[in-house]
Amino acid sequence: MDTLYLKYRPKKFEEILWQDHVKLLISNAVKSGKISHSYLFSGPRGTGKTSVARILAKSVNCEHPVDGYEPCNTCDSCVEIDTGRTLDVIEMDAASNRGIDEIRSIRDRVSYMPSKLKYKVYIIDEVHMLTREAFNALLKTLEEPPEKTIFILATTEIQKVPETIISRCQVLEFRRIPPNLISSKLEEVCKAENIEYEIKALDHISKEASGGMRDALSMFEEIARFSNEKVTLESTLFVLGNSPIETVESYITSILDGNVDALIHVVDSIRNQGTDVMNFLRSVVEYSSDKIKENGLISIGKFAVDLIQILRYEEKQFDLFKIMSAFEALKYKNLENVAQPLTSKTQQAEKVEKVEKEAKTDLERLIEFYVQKDLSVCVSLSKSDLRDLGDRILVISYTPLQNEILKEKDKMITDDFKNITSRSVRFAFAYSKVSIDSMNEKLREPIIKVLSLFGGKILPEGGE
Ligand SMILES: Nc1ncnc2c1ncn2[C@@H]1O[C@H](COP(=O)(O)OP(=O)(O)O)[C@@H](O)[C@H]1O
Ligand SMILES: [Mg+2]
Ligand SMILES: [Zn+2]
Repeated sequence: MDTLYLKYRPKKFEEILWQDHVKLLISNAVKSGKISHSYLFSGPRGTGKTSVARILAKSVNCEHPVDGYEPCNTCDSCVEIDTGRTLDVIEMDAASNRGIDEIRSIRDRVSYMPSKLKYKVYIIDEVHMLTREAFNALLKTLEEPPEKTIFILATTEIQKVPETIISRCQVLEFRRIPPNLISSKLEEVCKAENIEYEIKALDHISKEASGGMRDALSMFEEIARFSNEKVTLESTLFVLGNSPIETVESYITSILDGNVDALIHVVDSIRNQGTDVMNFLRSVVEYSSDKIKENGLISIGKFAVDLIQILRYEEKQFDLFKIMSAFEALKYKNLENVAQPLTSKTQQAEKVEKVEKEAKTDLERLIEFYVQKDLSVCVSLSKSDLRDLGDRILVISYTPLQNEILKEKDKMITDDFKNITSRSVRFAFAYSKVSIDSMNEKLREPIIKVLSLFGGKILPEGGE
């Protein structure tokens, strides 16, 4: 098997999937002879930028283009470009040639007319990687565009390309390719390569590729190499390192059954398999969303989404994952003990959602408490990121004003929390880097003013 994504590189516009707006604009320009001097192709990797750039180079140089724009792929010009034998189509990867020298050499060479073809075409990939000097040199070239020369710049990160460059180019945005189109393409490849497949496997790969055809083809190739006879969902999950569906299912079932022992068993097996927690949780989310009609899975899905948020920056991901999952299972277990017999998991899930809705969390009660006692703390807490981790409460504050208020009153908050919830926990405050000491006078002054207004109690004890 050749490298599939090279073997299946589109050779004409017709074979480019999804990017219809790009194809339309370019084909019209070629037909009417109104080619732009410089294009900027922006978009995620593997969506067709380089492919379109090469097709465009053939299109303007083709000796007898089909319908006036589609490269024939048989004339001398087309063949020379396809085989990379021409000096008039120059591809440069800015990721490896960041230097000004290369761009200078373009500037020097640019003054010569194309040696053989009608148009000279420069394709500069990952253009955002150029150094500032190189950008300036490029800008000069774009400002005095030489005749019969087309620049095609491509980038996955247009926000890093200077505005001055962007404004000189016609910008074309390449979009992520939808999973169903990727699946059909993979199916086509399977047929052409005589590979047996399960459609479920192709669908899974398409979702994992997040809109990039190259990634989809490389993933598929790796899986096909690994699979003996047939590309199955199982081999796909195995190669991509995702959790087998059975593990996801037993995780969900043990939570819904309130079976903490079984749950711990599943979690340990996930750890032993070396599965990444975040990937596992993403599989749980995906599984739940596929079955969104089954009510029970909505709350599990939501639980997994929340857990992903919480675990994102945690070092002890696995321990937290284990505890939180066991805790979730416990919630369902307790429901089993209520007098009224429960008939289905769906009802159990509804019950949990109801309980969750009615019972305020300890943090919500704390914030509510401060509505009366100290509005500045109330506001600062509610604008911070709060996480109840069981034995400690994490408070992440983002602005200098909140920083100052919370710093001043952290001990009071810890004490009040204990009084309200009878839980004795450690508060961990994480402050944003900006402190008011490091701010200039102009910015500091209003903050200090606000602090003096809201620094203390603003309601006298017992109200007015
Ligand atoms: N829009 C598309 N239609 C069909 N195949 C595509 C498309 N985009 C990418 N591909 C496949 O992915 C490979 C790499 O695409 P490429 O044009 O180099 O992407 P980019 O330059 O945007 O990273 C191609 O050889 C082709 O197999
Ligand atoms: Mg490319
Ligand atoms: Zn041709």
